[in-house]
Amino acid sequence: MPLDLDAIAKLTTQARGAAAKAYCPYSKFHVGAAILTDDGLIFAGCNVENASYGLTICAERNAIFHAVTASSERLVIKAVVVYTPTSIPTAPCGACRQVINEFGPGAQIFCVCDGPDTIRTTLGALLPEAFGPHNLA
Ligand code: THU
Repeated sequence: MPLDLDAIAKLTTQARGAAAKAYCPYSKFHVGAAILTDDGLIFAGCNVENASYGLTICAERNAIFHAVTASSERLVIKAVVVYTPTSIPTAPCGACRQVINEFGPGAQIFCVCDGPDTIRTTLGALLPEAFGPHNLA
């Protein structure tokens, strides 16, 4: 079932708050993500860069790892909101799509920004024929 506007607004508020905390002195590209779990909890994350550039972690993965750490049951992601303070929306990078797939192959994805456009999609559309836990079962 598509997420209602109220839930999207709540997630967006959390993602926006996280983006404000981004540690991104190199790219200066602030990203915030908020994920909604199947039991109704929200976890947020921001991107955290490093002087050794390749060690940077994206906002989406930071939020997911936070959720895994806090969850007692196996994490199931229902929705992800990615917020960037830009004029066009930013969709999750390939690495983050793969990590979202691990916990939310059916997740709804909303990419919101300060401009008028929002990307409303699904993980399945962003990462078709994904490799995942089912391949190893
Ligand atoms: N970034 C994210 O946090 N999420 C994405 O989906 C795309 C990229 C971050 C990584 C880096 O800190 C900055 O944006 C520029 O690539």
